[in-house]
Amino acid sequence: MGLLTALGRLLHYVHPEVAHRLLSLVLSIPLPSCRCAARWRVGIAETCGPVGIAAGLDKTGLYARFLSFFCPGFIVVGSTLPRARRGNKPPRAARVRPYSLVNAMGLNTPGIAVVVSRVSRLKYPVFISLAGFSVRDFVVQVEYLKRHYRPAAVELNISSPTYRGSWRDVPEDLDAGVQVFVKVGPSSDLRAVIMRAARLGWGLAVTNTIPVRDARLSAGAGGLSGLLLYRHGLRLLRRAREIAGPDVPIVYSGGVFACSQLREVLKLANAVEVLTSVLYFTPYVARLLNECPGVP
Ligand SMILES: Cc1cc2nc3c(=O)[nH]c(=O)nc-3n(C[C@H](O)[C@H](O)[C@H](O)COP(=O)(O)O)c2cc1C
Repeated sequence: MGLLTALGRLLHYVHPEVAHRLLSLVLSIPLPSCRCAARWRVGIAETCGPVGIAAGLDKTGLYARFLSFFCPGFIVVGSTLPRARRGNKPPRAARVRPYSLVNAMGLNTPGIAVVVSRVSRLKYPVFISLAGFSVRDFVVQVEYLKRHYRPAAVELNISSPTYRGSWRDVPEDLDAGVQVFVKVGPSSDLRAVIMRAARLGWGLAVTNTIPVRDARLSAGAGGLSGLLLYRHGLRLLRRAREIAGPDVPIVYSGGVFACSQLREVLKLANAVEVLTSVLYFTPYVARLLNECPGVP
């Protein structure tokens, strides 16, 4: 793993767009999947541990096999849309100190069918993250999954900065047949989403990134992730748990890098997802976090 750590360090010194391309090459290597070391449940979803990889690292389904080598609890693939979408022009990501990022990828995806064709043979817990610009986009994709692929869970991403706040409602009549998590962000109407989620047996994914201005990105603004998100994310998680009560399953993401943070978050959440810490320190982070002392 020394080589991976060295590669991770090296990537700190190159432009994030170049680092992203280099990383894409490495992440496409088809490594063998880790043997599921532990059993963990989040709602009715079964995973290999409490710490998974968050949506956005593998948007296309090409990297899930590589990531599964590092024994994450689960891998969230996507967000997807019904059809391919190019996303924003580069630069789409920039580093922010300490250990944070701002990104405006613009929901780039090859479309749900391509993503499913790439992950369907992988024997590892995969959550599929669905995005959409309308209720129909979500419905079409859920129907597609019901016919072609049964993931361990589905995330409904209703909090992407790319929606520009116009899409807020969770489609009520979706029956995915697997655990559903609604992914909220700092600007979501938490109470309304939780009321619906609790009624439908859905869980929550807390939190997406925080919208910030950044002139380095082609979009001029993006979502803040990583260490700087942690304080805000934890506050949102506390509010979400307070409103939801103990029974609604909650998956937390937002700036988790260390065992002490993981233990703090797992007092309120049922599982955790990481992304920015993986981009800074390689996917080995997921394995180390799943082995933290004091984490069941
Ligand atoms: C480059 C990048 C792309 C992302 N893409 C998505 C996405 O497609 N769908 C989604 O629900 N969240 C997306 N996210 C948000 C992450 O899943 C996660 O919620 C957020 O980054 C906070 O976790 P972190 O601080 O561990 O990165 C993305 C984040 C980053 C940094």
